[in-house]
Amino acid sequence: MIQTLRGMRDIAGREARLFQWVEEKARYYFELYGYEEIKLPLMERTELFSRGIGSSSDIVQKEMYTFDDRKRRSITLRPEGTAGVVRHYIENGYDKRDPLKKFYYSGPMFRYERPQKGRYRQFYQLGVEAFGMESHLLDVDTIAMLVDYFKAIGIQDPLVKVNNIGCHKCRPDYNRALQDYLHSHEGELCSDCRKRIDNNPLRVLDCKKESCRTVVSDSPDIASFLCDSCRDYDEEFRALLSAREIPFEKDRFLVRGLDYYVKTVFEIHGGEGAQNALMGGGRYDGLVEALGGKPVPGFGFAIGVDRLVSLLAGDGLFRDGPGKLFVAWRLEEAGPLLKKCNILRKCGIAVDFLPDKRSFSNQLKYAHRQGYRYVVLLGEEEVMSEQIHLKNMETGDETYVSPCDIKEYLA
Ligand code: HAM
Repeated sequence: MIQTLRGMRDIAGREARLFQWVEEKARYYFELYGYEEIKLPLMERTELFSRGIGSSSDIVQKEMYTFDDRKRRSITLRPEGTAGVVRHYIENGYDKRDPLKKFYYSGPMFRYERPQKGRYRQFYQLGVEAFGMESHLLDVDTIAMLVDYFKAIGIQDPLVKVNNIGCHKCRPDYNRALQDYLHSHEGELCSDCRKRIDNNPLRVLDCKKESCRTVVSDSPDIASFLCDSCRDYDEEFRALLSAREIPFEKDRFLVRGLDYYVKTVFEIHGGEGAQNALMGGGRYDGLVEALGGKPVPGFGFAIGVDRLVSLLAGDGLFRDGPGKLFVAWRLEEAGPLLKKCNILRKCGIAVDFLPDKRSFSNQLKYAHRQGYRYVVLLGEEEVMSEQIHLKNMETGDETYVSPCDIKEYLA
């Protein structure tokens, strides 16, 4: 038997319906806030990600699915969506003419990570990217959209964590101070963090290992290294979050795993466990220029849909609809069967049947195994009637309902 690849999985049944619901609601909120959909290719030139995400990030160093195509060009399955949207933005010349451009996307991303609960090699993101404005107003409005959305799908009190990690001007000074501090505690750090001191010291701040957390608890705070522009930005950003009544927590150890961020970074957490960042995002003002465009600022985030869905699976506001009806039929001709199904479908009721001839009891057994709650019984007598003959599979009760009242009856 051929099995799925490690870290990859099928999403079906109720989980697929939950995915669909979460996505529909996201589209609604993203569009309410002026974002427009973009569908991106799953594959891009490797260079887009190595230059975009940054060569010192874990993603580029060890997690990309990279291969040569038939013409020996290096291709990579997208590990995230931001770089692709930036490529689209530059390729279409928006950087030269549009003061503000807002996109949203959804779909699978691929990272060769060690699989565990909430971490897959193919996972799904819902993300947005906004280009053109270096404005805390944009940051706050976008975070507000996200919080409204999370609440609408049943995540009560989403915990918004924010930080400001400085810009290309002030971060180098901070990096040096942090490196000096980390070198003086090198022996207490895990092997990954020892390597990070020189190539990506910020990442040491969000290592989950207990010994590293102890070391960084006394490390220099970036807040005291911010330049005037970053400090003002941060103050205005947090004041506006409060004015919009979004509860948040300042977390100086929040740094994010991709190299392109400057100034604002944020995450929303929910549920238990280390892998509980439901989403992550921030400002990436140098990225468009680094990928060949004009120096246009950007801001965005991506939600991990697998994690969101697993959190909602237990509770949340998702309710499976009344489901499909199964039509058990015994007729000489199939024409009246199709006509009856058509009437029900026109009333917005999903129906299905077995397209062969078998006994009623066999069909009912099948409906029971498939978990249908109600079955439509259709014999020669029912064909003559306008009413639908319904059987409740749990109680065995039978009743007659007119087609367009069925929805209400099943709710
Ligand atoms: P990221 O933090 O790498 O950011 O991913 C965003 C979210 O995707 C995470 O918070 C997590 O919920 C989910 N995620 C990441 N890796 C996995 C995985 N292996 N399995 C399951 N879920 C995962 C980005 O990707 C940025 N592009 C976000 C962004 C957009 N920043 C600005 N614009």
